[in-house]
Amino acid sequence: MAAIHDLIFALAVFASLLLRHAKGDGFLLLNYYQETCPNLEEIVSDATADILAIDVTLAPSLLRLFFHDCFVRGCEGSVLLNSTASNEAEKDAEPNLTLAGFPEIDLVKARVEEQCPGVVSCADILALVARDSVAQVGGPNYLVPLGRRDGVVSYASEAIANLPSPSFDLTHLVNNFASKGLDLLDLLVLSAAHTIGFAHCASFSNRLYNFSATSYTDPSLDPHYAKILQAKCPPNQDFDGNPMDYITPVVFDHYYFNLVSSNKGLFQSDAALLNDPLLMQYIETHKTNVSDYLSFFEDFGVSMLKMGSIQVLTGNEGEIRKICSLVNT
Ligand code: HEM
Repeated sequence: MAAIHDLIFALAVFASLLLRHAKGDGFLLLNYYQETCPNLEEIVSDATADILAIDVTLAPSLLRLFFHDCFVRGCEGSVLLNSTASNEAEKDAEPNLTLAGFPEIDLVKARVEEQCPGVVSCADILALVARDSVAQVGGPNYLVPLGRRDGVVSYASEAIANLPSPSFDLTHLVNNFASKGLDLLDLLVLSAAHTIGFAHCASFSNRLYNFSATSYTDPSLDPHYAKILQAKCPPNQDFDGNPMDYITPVVFDHYYFNLVSSNKGLFQSDAALLNDPLLMQYIETHKTNVSDYLSFFEDFGVSMLKMGSIQVLTGNEGEIRKICSLVNT
């Protein structure tokens, strides 16, 4: 499966350099801002480092923000827009109420604007900050083609319709990812982003109490781990500090595969990945072997490149927002 992914990687980079996106007039390019903002990557990387130096737990939040942007209307910054008197935006939809990192994106945008006013989209800034967040907590420093433009609409209803639920089974997950042009391996390696970050009890407490008519706790969850989680999450009490990878919660590594393999993935959506034989094989190989774990980093970069290309706006579409939370007037 890794060899196929290598080939896809080469083709995806090639495609990103040469091919038109279905909806746009333009391209995503690795050197898109070479003339207009040559120091962009350095500015964003430095700003991200400053943010993570104050609070490293924002690394997972900033990565998740990009995922939630791309899955709703594509990677065009709609998740960053505020609601208005007449419209409830994505940001205020239920699955997005646990997002964090919005002020930090504003901060990076302000730093970019100081040096390159009116040139760089919020969508591209989000793509770069997500990559730098991953890289700065030990993950891969994958390439990010640029040239996305910012959308001008954002609907809460679309976030609810498009974002996968943590209680999804494998079929729902596969269909959801397929609707975004992402395949089975993308589903697995992108889910492995759960090697960093924290969750609210509410995101998995259905697995701990009255799970089904036949089983009080989710049988796909390790019973000893279920007890630990019950102690942290008593019924009807929420708490937002549950690490998804309790061994190294803010190091981007391969421990996610260890956890899922031993039935300690936090969400049903993590556990569901074991139900496919090919995915199970990938999980088993990548949980121990260092060279295979490095191939996970490569696979993650490929899948992020694919996710980062979903329905992008290019050319004359959309706009370059001045402030990431507001459309230009
Ligand atoms: C496969 C479907 C997925 C589901 C069902 C899912 C669901 C969730 C849920 C419920 C949380 C916890 C929210 C909370 O309780 O605060 C979470 C956290 C997180 N997710 Fe996912 N996720 C999925 C895929 C992804 C992908 C594709 C990425 C990125 C590539 C990602 C990155 C993260 C990160 C980094 C966090 C931690 C956020 C933080 O600490 O602030 N997830 N996810």
